[in-house]
Amino acid sequence: MTISSVVVIGAGTMGGGIAAHCANAGLDVTLLDVPAVAGDRNALVKSLWERQLKARPAALFSAQTAERVRLGNVEDDFAAVVARADWIIEAIVEKLEPKRALHARIDAARKPDAIVSSNTSGIPISSIAAERSASFQSHFLGAHFFNPPRYLKLLEIIPTSRTETAVLQAMIDLAENRLGKSVVVCKDTPNFIANRIGAFAIQTRMRSAIAQGFGVEEVDVLSGPLTGNPRTGTFRLADLIGLDVLAQVNNTLYELALDDESRECFLLPAVMQSLIAQNALGNKSGSGFYKTVQGAGGKEFWALDLTSGAYAPASNPSVALVAATRALQLAERWRAIFDAGGDERGARFVIDTTLNILAYAARRVPEISDSPSDIDRAMRLGFGSEMGPFEIWDAIGVARGVALMKAQGIAVAPWVETMLAAGRPSFYVRAENAQLEVYAPTPARNAPAAASRAPAPILLADLAGSPREVARNTSASLFDLGEGVLCLEFHGKGNTLDLQVAEMGQHALDLLSTDRWRGMVIGNQGRDFCLGANIGIFQAAFGDPKQLDAVLSRFQAWVQELRHSPKPIVTAVRQRALGGGAEMCLLAAQVIASAETYMGLVEFGVGVIPAFGGCKELLRRNVSPHVTSSSVNALPHLQQVFETIAFAKVSESAAQARENGFLSPGDVIMLNDEQLLGAAKRSVINLADAGYQAPRRDARPIYAIGGKGKAALATAVDLWRWSGRISAYDDALARALAHVLCGGDLSAPQWVSEQHILDLERAAFVDLAQRPQTQDRIAHMLKHGKPLRN
Ligand code: NAI
Repeated sequence: MTISSVVVIGAGTMGGGIAAHCANAGLDVTLLDVPAVAGDRNALVKSLWERQLKARPAALFSAQTAERVRLGNVEDDFAAVVARADWIIEAIVEKLEPKRALHARIDAARKPDAIVSSNTSGIPISSIAAERSASFQSHFLGAHFFNPPRYLKLLEIIPTSRTETAVLQAMIDLAENRLGKSVVVCKDTPNFIANRIGAFAIQTRMRSAIAQGFGVEEVDVLSGPLTGNPRTGTFRLADLIGLDVLAQVNNTLYELALDDESRECFLLPAVMQSLIAQNALGNKSGSGFYKTVQGAGGKEFWALDLTSGAYAPASNPSVALVAATRALQLAERWRAIFDAGGDERGARFVIDTTLNILAYAARRVPEISDSPSDIDRAMRLGFGSEMGPFEIWDAIGVARGVALMKAQGIAVAPWVETMLAAGRPSFYVRAENAQLEVYAPTPARNAPAAASRAPAPILLADLAGSPREVARNTSASLFDLGEGVLCLEFHGKGNTLDLQVAEMGQHALDLLSTDRWRGMVIGNQGRDFCLGANIGIFQAAFGDPKQLDAVLSRFQAWVQELRHSPKPIVTAVRQRALGGGAEMCLLAAQVIASAETYMGLVEFGVGVIPAFGGCKELLRRNVSPHVTSSSVNALPHLQQVFETIAFAKVSESAAQARENGFLSPGDVIMLNDEQLLGAAKRSVINLADAGYQAPRRDARPIYAIGGKGKAALATAVDLWRWSGRISAYDDALARALAHVLCGGDLSAPQWVSEQHILDLERAAFVDLAQRPQTQDRIAHMLKHGKPLRN
């Protein structure tokens, strides 16, 4: 089943986002909605698509991606478009009858092997397909995306009893390998897994807050990062989802989950009903549990008093528990919260609500899933929690949790007690091969269900502390990925580059010079690949140009050694790669980039220019290759590189990083993040086997334009300054950058060595670092985390 052509029906929030993401994945997409009553029949779908084009964060990888999407309407285009499609995605209103009517039309028009899915969040999948042909039913399933479809990794796939296994398998493969999703296969139960448990958690916290007199801000702190959840906590999350959408999710559960012993929990609290009645639906309507108010000094954030129903300025309450447990890892923090227990007001709230949520999740097995790990994954991927309910329960101790639940009269799922009685103290155990294995409460079903066919991902956290950890210091580690491939991992704050990283990198180079190793991956699984050089290390050398020059020389030498390493070095990059982080990609023989890569040289923000080869590499890659004869005008290409650095352009995707000149055509972009390190490792092996040849050190690969270029760039700077696009100090920085990019004081254009540009980078950096404006920018960045525009 090769899927290349897709039709999405319903161009609203979800349909539009799904269409955009399918285009991101390289599929050909047609997006349909109802025709407009008068005038241009496609007016509605066009205006809805316009929202996706403007969405922030961006729905599309780049402007070019949008060209993969065609627009139409369900009257004029339906039959022809549906007959061609390999996959038909329904994302229309959440009502059974319109969905049924639409699927009847799809049934009549689709080609026999086309897959059909519904994005419903709550309507039973089998009831949508009930009256359809046998062929339709065998090719039909639920494919439930989360909003926004590009960014939320979870895809719940819901086969019915009639869905063919091959269809389910094709869907899982497509979702994981092309769309980059993490799939959880669900049973056809109300709201599936994530929204079932998520709605229960939100309702439980809201009800406890109301009953015990907690404020919305306090609850958001207690249910935010403190307990491994996003900052939105509970009430801000409700505002973000939309109170009407949340109400619909709860109503579906109340109406359809008739056997759920906790069903009453899904009845909306009076305060939420009253907000909905006033059209205070959360962020989209400007007010909900919070609202933004125009105060004298600008926008103010106000919070709702759950008792009086009035808003008051946010008080940012300080919660003692946060200060007391800040330094702890999440699992230790959970234990500390449970230890604090008793009289600590915040801890009491967390403990009581958590016990209820954990017990509820366990009582839903095997009703909504046979495996506790599916519930954990769904909560991590769908709600951005760091730990799922069973992982939390393991952290506090399963037996301890059971005892506390019983003491509070909370019903414990019998299978949990069976597990404990069998002498197994935790849901997860680490098997001898280092893989985590989860307890199976029910015997495996006879028919082997379709499952992920992707190779088991490499997890560096699992290698840490094992014999595969080759070396470790405070900022970096070396791992043995097997088959002769090393991995250099950064793990300092923000994965920044400091002297320890360089030291570990040097150690890596020493190891690479032995026969044991074929090459190396630079990669990690932190939140961001690398936020750049740690400015603290340079700050110490400010005021001492000689020392600063020495530190920079050492870094440059290290970066050049990596670049010229006779054994291939492949960088696996995801999320942010800024400044020095981008330069760790520019030095590699090949880059394996996650589609979600945000890359840029942002040094201007701290008042310096790139000096680990960033200027040199952008020149070498984006200017020099155009100079094929003496008559070529290289200036427009130089101008582009100049702007990329001077405006600190950061890509919104890997595709854009390629457009900006950071990735070459031979670099690979993958949507599946989990497979990134595995792919980088294979690439090292392939390059080594193919007789990899490092770039020559003695070459003159860079075309430097000299004085003529500097004059042209200076004119551009004058214009920017004059039009107010840049600040006074940006002006000075831009002129320093122009000097470097043009090759310094050259009277005529010529080919120069890499070292020539590196020396200029270093000299400019050292010079700028002595200036007070640069020092102000650095101090501001360290204090506020934002650039100063002086
Ligand atoms: P929406 O209201 O933003 O968009 C629905 C679109 O379908 C509208 O543009 C409407 O004109 C169109 N439409 C209605 N009937 C149609 C028909 N017969 N033929 C063609 N187009 C038709 O709704 P939204 O939020 O995008 O939801 C769509 C589906 O996705 C629903 O089933 C919803 O439950 C589900 N869902 C929604 C999520 C969300 O966060 N909004 C999350 C996950 C699933």
